[in-house]
Amino acid sequence: VAMVAADCGPMQRLLVKAQWNKVYGTSKVRDDAGHVLWKAIFNQDGETRALFNRVHGDDIYSPEFMAHSARVLGGLDIAISLLDNQAELDAVLAHLKEQHIERGIPDRYFDLFKNALMEFAPSALGRCFIKDAWSSCFDVIANGIKGQ
Ligand code: HEM
Repeated sequence: VAMVAADCGPMQRLLVKAQWNKVYGTSKVRDDAGHVLWKAIFNQDGETRALFNRVHGDDIYSPEFMAHSARVLGGLDIAISLLDNQAELDAVLAHLKEQHIERGIPDRYFDLFKNALMEFAPSALGRCFIKDAWSSCFDVIANGIKGQ
């Protein structure tokens, strides 16, 4: 039987919630987190930057882009905080999905986001970072937002 990655089960959900709170703890960290994450996304694929023209994607330090970044991370924060409340999580993901539909985001862009997050989170958590739990639980969130 092939090895399967740990799923996003009840224990993984609680662990990710607790670890996310450390990653996302303070407003200073939130601004820095946004900058690091978006740089990592734009570095992986420069084409993605054009999606953010409306919010000044050409300058991630502009107030417009920082406000955008705070909305995205705020959305992620809400989703993670609801990982142990499936009904409300589903409602939030359905709403986020709606907010992304008209922007026509290719699914693979969510992989770029995931790569960026999976690099950033351990920088705040060190060896405590539980990779499998983050990976599978991010997939739960991304799968709820992307797609038709
Ligand atoms: C907007 C969350 C992934 C592209 C937003 C907004 C939120 C959000 C809350 C603001 C919606 C509004 O106020 O209208 C998230 C979360 C993600 C995610 C939680 C992953 C877990 C992505 C990815 C991309 C993307 C991977 C593309 C690389 C956009 C764009 C906007 C947006 C283009 C609109 C920017 C504007 O205001 O012009 N996202 N997002 N998002 N997101 Fe995402």
